[in-house]
Amino acid sequence: MGSVQLDKITKAYTQAVCAVEDISFRIDSGQLVVLLGPSGCGKTTLLRMIAGLERPDTGRILIDGREVQDLDPRDRDIAMVFQNYALYPHMSVAENMGFGLKLRGMPRSQTQRRVREAASTLGLGDLLERRPAALSGGQRQRVALGRALVREPKVFLLDEPLSNLDAPLRASMRMEIARLQRALGVTMIYVTHDQIEAMTLGQRIVVMNEGRVQQIDTPMQVYERPANLFVATALGSPGINLLQGRLDRQGPTLQLDEGLSLPLAGLDAGHGALASFVDREVVVGLRPEALALHRDMPQAAALPAQLEVIERVGNEAFLHLCMGARHLVARVPPQDLPEPGTQVHIACRPYSMHVFDPASGLRIDTNA
Ligand SMILES: Nc1ncnc2c1ncn2[C@@H]1O[C@H](COP(=O)(O)OP(=O)(O)O)[C@@H](O)[C@H]1O
Ligand SMILES: [Mg+2]
Repeated sequence: MGSVQLDKITKAYTQAVCAVEDISFRIDSGQLVVLLGPSGCGKTTLLRMIAGLERPDTGRILIDGREVQDLDPRDRDIAMVFQNYALYPHMSVAENMGFGLKLRGMPRSQTQRRVREAASTLGLGDLLERRPAALSGGQRQRVALGRALVREPKVFLLDEPLSNLDAPLRASMRMEIARLQRALGVTMIYVTHDQIEAMTLGQRIVVMNEGRVQQIDTPMQVYERPANLFVATALGSPGINLLQGRLDRQGPTLQLDEGLSLPLAGLDAGHGALASFVDREVVVGLRPEALALHRDMPQAAALPAQLEVIERVGNEAFLHLCMGARHLVARVPPQDLPEPGTQVHIACRPYSMHVFDPASGLRIDTNA
């Protein structure tokens, strides 16, 4: 068990800063949810409120249906792994992992059993007598996880637990955490500002910005149907291409200045939400994979562009293109590419456009 429900949580540290504003969502028992957002958007504040280290100004927090916002941290059955975890340098791995249980007065034999179990789950079984100084970064990180694991909490809260590790270690540790979460069937809330971590780990992602929830969805839905411009730009590497122009019903097309027009193949501006934007400004979002060289997609309309730079990353290449004053990036197969500095023709995949209202930033539903 370990469902978590947030109901209209708001927290302001000062009158000027509302760190978390009116946040509500529910996490089922055994789910792994990732909170994703830029630095300062309120992720740590939200996690600390769930843990009981910070009090919400208003709203309720329920764990397994029980209101906990007025309970002490130790009465919530939650373990938190912090961004800057500190291990006691003079204690062994086993002592570090068992220290919290010892403080709680758990009998020694039971503590030792839990430490041994957690150590074996984390692959630390042979390192129990070592001091932290004699461990690698990844091993220390696992000890910090183990310290939370031995508590056998209902809910795990992890606040950017991998941000101090180098990239390859981060990749392997995040798979380890995903495996662990599934194996133990525990509820986990994982905070990160790293979109790759969010995409690969989360069963659901809660995208936050400026203290507010922007979208809650599966990773693929967040990528394929971003609810607004913030979410669209928060995910994807290279990022989504954004083009602002006037929506012309004929085609329909996006009329850019300099006489350029982008055909919006697959969209219907005759009906539904898009129809009300005809002759108005819209922002069209195109993922790099929605663009191709026209020669590879001859059935689509061709748009002239200048190929500035080719970034090769092995199995694919990123074409950096200029169309008028605009910079676009296309993701293409790396073979037989034109020379940088030459004029090329690009094309857009049909049904690949995201359309947004520039005033509100909200997605315009184009399926209607
Ligand atoms: N103890 C505090 N006192 C005042 N303001 C704070 C405090 N902690 C965080 N804040 C502010 O609240 C906002 C959210 O911070 P935080 O929750 O740490 O964001 P994140 O973890 O997403 O980087 C930021 O504007 C931050 O400066
Ligand atoms: Mg933080």
